[in-house]
This record gives sequence, structure tokens and C-alpha cells, in this order.
Amino acid sequence: MEEMNPLSNARLAFIGCGVMAEAIIAGLLRKKLVGPEQIAGSHPRQTRREELHVKYGIEMFENNRDAALDAAPGEENGGSLVVLAVKPQRLLRVLEELRGSLVKEQLVVSVVAGAKIETIAEELLHPSIVRTMPNTPAQIGEGVTAWTASSEVSEQQVRQVCAMLDALGKSVRVENDHQIDMATALSATGPTYIFLVMEALVDAGVHMGFSRHVAEELVHQMLLGSVLFAKESHKHPAELRNMVTSPGGTSAEAIYQMEKGSLRTVLSKAVWAAYQKAQELGSKK
Ligand SMILES: NC(=O)c1ccc[n+]([C@@H]2O[C@H](COP(=O)([O-])OP(=O)(O)OC[C@H]3O[C@@H](n4cnc5c(N)ncnc54)[C@H](OP(=O)(O)O)[C@@H]3O)[C@@H](O)[C@H]2O)c1
Repeated sequence: MEEMNPLSNARLAFIGCGVMAEAIIAGLLRKKLVGPEQIAGSHPRQTRREELHVKYGIEMFENNRDAALDAAPGEENGGSLVVLAVKPQRLLRVLEELRGSLVKEQLVVSVVAGAKIETIAEELLHPSIVRTMPNTPAQIGEGVTAWTASSEVSEQQVRQVCAMLDALGKSVRVENDHQIDMATALSATGPTYIFLVMEALVDAGVHMGFSRHVAEELVHQMLLGSVLFAKESHKHPAELRNMVTSPGGTSAEAIYQMEKGSLRTVLSKAVWAAYQKAQELGSKK
């Protein structure tokens, strides 16, 4: 039997249509999970409203309340998701604006970094909240999003959230806000760690004498291939590494230098520092 699309009769509103909201909208339409007539968005700038209306055929509003209202559950009663996608520093004002304009059945999905479920629920006076933490590869449908839900979120709403987040790549449900801070440090901040490693390796290639574009091509495909190989082989990373570390060879020599330079400890400390920062930023809200 064909699997039911949980979003087939849903209505969606995107509050603050910047990079992340556009990535979700584009993914949903690309995967045909919803049609443009099911989506409304809000944005303060007219040029951006026109741009998104022309590009995706979605209804755009200047006022955030109007977008949320447009997405209120219709007669078909397929559910309603209001996605908060503004920058963290704008969130409190937006929540104030939206307060009192949502109906009980609407689900609020936040992609805003640092904003706790409790804060959103209190500011909106609304119980059904999902908090998500996507990462930048979501922009090409290859992201990973950690998410957690308040206890009032129904099973059907959970299915709708999963379908929506799968348009950004993979999604992983975590237990609470605390684990969202952990995911912030690991998977959401993660691409920046990899980009730094990528840059350092390309520079090392240039240092040896490769032209930059050759070094880039070698490094990009090497990283991509290594991840796919690790995933498909189901082997522990140390085993994969040992397979190519011959006695007295190049890998052994390079690994010796990396261990001497405390690469593992540096990475572990970096993730821990990002985790502490995520907690600190979240507690300021
Ligand atoms: N980008 C990512 O990969 C990523 C990853 C994880 C989490 N996030 C989270 O996603 C949220 C959005 O990030 P983003 O990268 O999409 O930022 P963004 O591109 O700046 O999007 C936010 C949009 O909201 C608009 N806006 C400003 N004030 C508004 C208001 N009062 N009402 C409605 N819209 C308003 C902004 O307009 P102007 O451009 O005119 O200011 C902007 O277009 C952030 O909270 C961020 O923490 C993003």
C-alpha cells in the first residue's frame, strides 16, 4: 500500500522567509509533499515577498499574523504548521505579535537557534511546540536536523514534522531542549569544523605545490568518498584507518603528527565549548 503523505491536506505558514525558510519551502515543493496553495509566508520587505511569490507561487504577507491566520486549519482539517524562522534577536517581538492569533490545533515549529520550547510556549500562550536544530547542508537537502516536541504535540503532528524535516535531509528526534543544545554543538555547528579541516587540507596541498583547483578537487572528493565509505562499510573508523596504515608508511607518519598535535583533544574541546556556548545563549532568553 502506498504510504500516506501526512502533509497532503495541511496548511503551512512561514514566519520570516530567509535562507532556512526558503530551504524548507523549496524542499517541500521539490518533493511534492505540498502544493504552493498550501503555503503562506511573511516577510517585512516587499522585494523579498515578490521574489518568493514569483519563484514558488506561494501567498506572501507583510504581517506575520496574517500568514499564521492564512494557515489556520481549513475545512479539510489536514493540520496546520506555523514555522518560526526569524533570527534569534527578532524572536521575542515576533512571538508578541503572534500571541493570541493561533488556534489550539496549530503546531508551532521553531528553527530558531537558542529558543527553548518553554520560552516559546510562554510567550505565545500556546502548548504545541516543536523545536528543531537544522544545519546548513539543509540548503541542498543534505542536512541533518535534531528536533524535540512538547508533550501536547500529537502523533499526527509528529508525522507531519518528520515529513517536513525530511525535505531538508535527515532528521533525528532527541529527548529535550538540553539535547538540542548538544546537537547544536555537534551537527548544527559541525559543518564549520569540517569546512576548517577542508580549508587546511587544501592549503596543505597548495603548500606541496598543487594548484588550488586541483587541491580542492582532490580534497572534496576524498572527504565525500570517505564519509560514504565509512557509512556503507559499517566498520569502526579505527578499523578503516588501520586497513591503510602500513608499517613505516605515510599514514602512520601523518597520524603520529596528528596525535602529537592533540587533534582529538582539540576537536573534543571545540565541541564542548560550542555546547557550553549554546547553553549560555539559551539561558539568556
Ligand atoms: N541558515 C541555517 O543554516 C540555519 C541553521 C540552523 C538554524 N538556523 C536558524 O534559522 C533561523 C533563520 O535563519 P536564516 O539563516 O534563515 O536567517 P535569515 O536568512 O536572516 O532569515 C530571517 C528572515 O526574517 C526576516 N525578518 C526580519 N525581521 C522580521 C520580522 N519582524 N518578521 C518576519 N520576518 C522578519 C529577515 O529579513 P531581513 O533580511 O530583511 O532582515 C530574514 O529574511 C535563525 O533563527 C537561525 O538560528 C539557521
